[in-house]
Amino acid sequence: VKSELSPSTSTHRTVSFAVPFSYPVVFANGVFEAGNGALISALPALLAGRRHRLFVVLDDGLAAAQPALAGRIEAYVTANSDRLELAGPVIVVPGGERCKNDLAVLFDLQQRLASHHMDRHSFCLAVGGGAVLDVVGFAAATVHRGVRLLRVPSTVLGQNDAGVGVKNGVNAFGQKNFLGSFAPPYAVINDVALLRSLPARDLRAGMAEAVKVALIRDSAFFDWLCENAEALASFDEPALAYLIRRGAELHLDHIEGGGDPFEQGSSRPLDFGHWAAHKMEGLSHHELRHGEAVSIGIALDSLYSMASGWLPASDAGRILQLLETLGLPIDHAVLHSTSSEGRLHVAEGLDEFREHLGGELSITFLHGIGHGVTHNDVDLELVARCIARLPRLEGKVRASCGELDLSALSGAPESAHSTSVRSELA
Ligand SMILES: NC(=O)c1ccc[n+]([C@@H]2O[C@H](COP(=O)([O-])OP(=O)(O)OC[C@H]3O[C@@H](n4cnc5c(N)ncnc54)[C@H](O)[C@@H]3O)[C@@H](O)[C@H]2O)c1
Ligand SMILES: [Zn+2]
Repeated sequence: VKSELSPSTSTHRTVSFAVPFSYPVVFANGVFEAGNGALISALPALLAGRRHRLFVVLDDGLAAAQPALAGRIEAYVTANSDRLELAGPVIVVPGGERCKNDLAVLFDLQQRLASHHMDRHSFCLAVGGGAVLDVVGFAAATVHRGVRLLRVPSTVLGQNDAGVGVKNGVNAFGQKNFLGSFAPPYAVINDVALLRSLPARDLRAGMAEAVKVALIRDSAFFDWLCENAEALASFDEPALAYLIRRGAELHLDHIEGGGDPFEQGSSRPLDFGHWAAHKMEGLSHHELRHGEAVSIGIALDSLYSMASGWLPASDAGRILQLLETLGLPIDHAVLHSTSSEGRLHVAEGLDEFREHLGGELSITFLHGIGHGVTHNDVDLELVARCIARLPRLEGKVRASCGELDLSALSGAPESAHSTSVRSELA
């Protein structure tokens, strides 16, 4: 056969298509109470006599705190047996980072999805914290290349961030979220009643992601957080509900309108404060909650923004004061740990972050409150100086009403680092 292509020529065709995604994010109260229509209305209509198959996975922390919940879910399905049926008994999986750290949890879920003959039109219903939603989401996304996923987040963080977005994942090979996929859910139902058993520590931790998204996107929301910080710190339900709703909206606005829902470019504005946070979580052997690590990461990157001359010292002071009023940490011992050569362990987080993004570092800093800006390099010496400053600020910010003596860091940029401002985000 004589080829029409000579060794020096080639032909190509570009394949191009767009896949529209849409899913409802519903705010409800008592989603599994008899008569509550939030779940049913999120499902598609079916022909008479046909029913949706549900495989229900429950977070063990939630199951222990609300022992009647599994039975209530089963009763709810039975009461709606014209539309719903359980593919098997409700499965309880370890809550928190344990389920993302142990691949056996993922494989067990995949195996159960197989043995229950879940098809691509069946639903995995995940009820739990962000970690459980992440592992169930990854199991659902990989079985048959995608079983439908319904998320019912049961934490503040899950309801304003992890549960409403398009990502899932588990930790592997020593790295946070190393295995995972982009897979939009079929629907998300945020049920305020589930939060009533959440421990204080997790109620607080989840607020850090709302502070984060306010800082990069919405100064009015940041002002609201400051004005309502005491109410939030005492877990006032209406205040918490607004934090969740506005935090979720801002995260969803980014997914919908940011132009890159599956993060194909390098820019990751929603990961403000996260480069150090992800590393700290691992270094602390997950003693730190994700939200707590994000709070420390926000404190660090706010100081760095200030020390670089981009953020007024008074704004950095307000940020640290808000975090402390909410009862969130701004420092932790792991942030200061160093290798035998004296290199900060957390600095490895930057390399991992760079690899995760695709080779080019893209990191968000603040050029004012509500104004996140992407930078492509970081001055590690300045990072080290900011880290060294944190223990001296911890616990003192609240008392000083945000009026901080940050003179050691403020003023002109301390080094001639060549941070290039690549794109304005706000
Ligand atoms: N996929 C994403 O886009 C995304 C975004 C942000 C964070 N995350 C991930 O989310 C995880 C953190 O999630 P989280 O903050 O929700 O915490 P978590 O899932 O780690 O849960 C914290 C603890 O609360 C328990 N729990 C959950 N709900 C409860 C309830 N209502 N009552 C009592 N106990 C309850 C859990 O069992 C666990 O012990 C991290 O792994 C993080 O990487 C993912
Ligand atoms: Zn996060």
